[in-house]
Amino acid sequence: AIERTLSIIKPDAVAKNVIGKIYSRFETSGLKIAAARLVQLSRAEAEGFYAVHRERPFFKDLVEFMISGPVMVQVLEGENAIAKNRELMGATDPKKAEAGTIRADFADSIDANAVHGSDAPETAAVEIAYFFPALNVYSR
Ligand code: CMP
Repeated sequence: AIERTLSIIKPDAVAKNVIGKIYSRFETSGLKIAAARLVQLSRAEAEGFYAVHRERPFFKDLVEFMISGPVMVQVLEGENAIAKNRELMGATDPKKAEAGTIRADFADSIDANAVHGSDAPETAAVEIAYFFPALNVYSR
C-alpha cells in the first residue's frame, strides 16, 4: 500500500552537508518527498517528539543532541514507505547497520545516527502531524 512516513535528517548529517546524498537515496528507492522543512528544534519540541522515550536512560542526551543544530524533516511517500525507509536507514546503532545503509555510511554513534524514521503506521501519523499540518503534505 502507499504509505507516508516521517523522516528526520539529524544535526550530525546536516552538519556533514549530506542532505542531498540522503535525499538521493530516498528518490532512488522510489520514495517521494511529500513535505519538507529545515528546523531548529526547541528543547520542548524535541522532548515532545521523543516523549515515548522519556523514561529511557538516553533521553536527556538524545534531546541535547537533537537541539544541537538544525534538522531536516520530511514526509516520505510511496509503496511500503515505512519499511522501505527503515531498510534504507539500517540499524539504530551504526556499528550494527548493514553496509550501504544511510547509518553505515553517514552515522558515527547510536546518538549521532544521522536519521530517524517512523517505525509503524500509527507512529508515522502522529509524527507527521507533529511537524506538518495536513494541508502542507502533498501527494504527487
Ligand atoms: P531514533 O530512531 O531517532 O529514536 C530514538 C533515538 O534514541 C534513536 O534513534 C537513537 O539515536 C537514540 N538512542 C540512544 N541510545 C539508544 C538505545 N540504547 N536504544 C535506542 N535508541 C537509542
